[in-house]
Amino acid sequence: MSRAWWAGLCLMLSTGLGCGPELPEAESAAAEVYVRRCSGCHRVYHPGLLTARMWDFMLTRMDDELRRLGRPPLQGHERQAVRAYLHKHSGG
Ligand code: HEC
Repeated sequence: MSRAWWAGLCLMLSTGLGCGPELPEAESAAAEVYVRRCSGCHRVYHPGLLTARMWDFMLTRMDDELRRLGRPPLQGHERQAVRAYLHKHSGG
């Protein structure tokens, strides 16, 4: 797959979903927690990429990853903020 193809895809996705840095309500406290806690190991994913149920599944998976790498687990309030944020802007 050519580089130009990927660049085109990113450009297209960044207007809505995917590669772009723009997150919904990027200035909000919840978005800040999301970026702070979820960008340590990979880029942050746009909330619209997954459904609310898939986000719950991923949050549980990420607990395992945090434990595996010896990182501090999400605090209750962090988890709540991230979950509410992802659900609010989820893809369904
Ligand atoms: C300790 C490192 C680490 C942190 C912090 C982390 N992740 Fe992950 N994440 C991973 C790893 C490793 C994978 C790939 C393995 C997997 O899919 O289980 C992954 C995969 C994902 C995927 C799936 C991507 C795909 O293409 O399948 C999503 C969605 C995701 N993470 C969301 C989150 C969210 C939300 C947070 C914040 C709560 C978070 N991650 C924080 C390590 C981390």
